[in-house]
Amino acid sequence: IFDTSQQGSIEVAKEISNLIRERASKGQNCVLGLATGSSPIKVYEELVRMHREEGLSFSNVVTFNLDEYYPMEKGNIQSYHYFMHQHLFDHVDIAPGNIHIPDGTVSIEEIKEYCRSYEKKIEEEGGLDFQLLGIGRTGHIGFNEPGSHHNSATRDITLDHITRVDAASAFKGVENVPRKAITMGISTIRNAKRIILLAWGQNKAEVVKATIEGEISSEVPATYLQEHGNATFVMDKEAAAQLT
Ligand code: F6R
Repeated sequence: IFDTSQQGSIEVAKEISNLIRERASKGQNCVLGLATGSSPIKVYEELVRMHREEGLSFSNVVTFNLDEYYPMEKGNIQSYHYFMHQHLFDHVDIAPGNIHIPDGTVSIEEIKEYCRSYEKKIEEEGGLDFQLLGIGRTGHIGFNEPGSHHNSATRDITLDHITRVDAASAFKGVENVPRKAITMGISTIRNAKRIILLAWGQNKAEVVKATIEGEISSEVPATYLQEHGNATFVMDKEAAAQLT
């Protein structure tokens, strides 16, 4: 628990940069699972600063993003594809071929096969070394909404109404928020060797309490993280306010 999201974000960026450098020193790739939304923005800012000022290279980094709205064009400013390039990829030396973001333009008929191939690519890279997460007010991680099975893999999912309401301002009205998304599954996330979940602000206090102190349940999918051996929640005082 940090006083500010700024302080917490700097610590998380340090851990990520240490992992990238450690892998590079052994001539290995570093496979990162990444999130979008407001929570990781300062982490990405700090990583970009480290790239510019401290020589942190992303040349050995392979990334897999958690999710994308469906349907969604890549060039749309509301897409997670756009978000990731704007906040991170356009500012570091990552190879474009190492970037993986679920494709919101695949056809309905292709979606199942596409999701299977996304899982396969993660496996082929040796699995996720590190997964960065935010948390939604529904308890979703990625877009695994309440009801998600702990063995779920990458798939298309219907967004919860609360999630769509929370995204409404970015889309200028809830009616414009896509109803569906493609998301990595709970099992995809749980297979990551290391997980850090970020939660900032009082808006997250209730779901943080349910996630950490509540029973493990598909009703709050983030509770599945209680069973992960190497997961840390990084939050500010406001998000931690309801913890006992
Ligand atoms: C985003 C994602 C979501 C968000 C969550 C919190 O890729 O997977 O689970 O992390 O909705 O969003 P923010 O950070 O905007 O509060």
